Amino acid sequence: MHLYLDTAIVEEVREIAAWGVLSGCTTNPSLILASGRKFEDVIAEIIEIVKGPVSAEVTAMDAPTMIAQGLELRKISPHVVVKLPTTPDGLTACKALTADGHPVNMTLCFSATQALLTARAGATYVSPFLGRVDDISWDGIQLIRDIRLIFDVHNLDTQIIAASIRHPMHVVDASKAGAHIGTMPAKLFAMLIKHPLTDAGIEKFNSDWQKALKNQ
Ligand code: G3P
Repeated sequence: MHLYLDTAIVEEVREIAAWGVLSGCTTNPSLILASGRKFEDVIAEIIEIVKGPVSAEVTAMDAPTMIAQGLELRKISPHVVVKLPTTPDGLTACKALTADGHPVNMTLCFSATQALLTARAGATYVSPFLGRVDDISWDGIQLIRDIRLIFDVHNLDTQIIAASIRHPMHVVDASKAGAHIGTMPAKLFAMLIKHPLTDAGIEKFNSDWQKALKNQ
């Protein structure tokens, strides 16, 4: 599973990209609001760092305006992935944009039927929100499993982005369930790398090395 950062904070992108593990980035209007910055500037700066797919969401609700906004976003960089809501108009815009070679990420997906529709509309990516599915007492990981099974059985090449990831076991389980990509906040990356036995081992090796130096 490839790892994406779900943020509009450029400093976070810089920090995690320096680990050498980042394949892309996703943003949404709530994250742009939290950044307090101009949308286009944030997207351009993130792309400069990631040099890979960065999802930028349209705000329109009707297909013609979604397409127009998507084309404007694509002028920022070829790395921009147009993020569209999983609605009838979103599907129409998805079909039009992908037919012209523009990559699209269908967001706010909560069911396997929605995911199947996005794939049939030519979506490059679909983003099931597994944490929000869990929030309503459904099974977000089972949703990822179902979508992956349907895509495999029918040779659909839309990639699954496990989104709304809330904790490390979501990362493990989404990966096992066949999500192609997991997108998560920077604090999740910090949780994924941290292990008390790694810290204890480093401390022991360091203190033993200080003692060993006396014999060198
Ligand atoms: O990628 C979607 C994500 O931003 C939503 O996460 O935690 O608000 O459900 P959350």
